[in-house]
Amino acid sequence: AQKETITINFMKNGSKIPAKAKVGDHLLDVVIDNDIDLDGFGACEGTLSCSTCHLIFTDEQFKIIGTKPTDEELDMLDLAYDLVDTSRLGCQVFVTKEMNGWEIEVPAGVSDARDV
Ligand code: FES
Repeated sequence: AQKETITINFMKNGSKIPAKAKVGDHLLDVVIDNDIDLDGFGACEGTLSCSTCHLIFTDEQFKIIGTKPTDEELDMLDLAYDLVDTSRLGCQVFVTKEMNGWEIEVPAGVSDARDV
């Protein structure tokens, strides 16, 4: 079956980057499939070892995300730049229908945990 496609907007340094997102994909896949140029984003290709795919959600969005972070994700988030309570890793969050029209904040800076 064809996957349902929605629109997600990535917000970076005040600019809005709209992207087509397939329900069921990870947010990291959305960034890659749309060829969005986010410096250093997704450096470990979703293997939970870099934290460069760090995204910041609103409280509301954070509650709607279908999955809770695993301990592995939390450990990696600890190393992320600009960590907040509603931070998640883009390679661990699945696109759901509810995300249509969302604006998701991409932190200004990136830290690659593999460099630490
Ligand atoms: Fe490296 Fe998500 S892409 S932790």
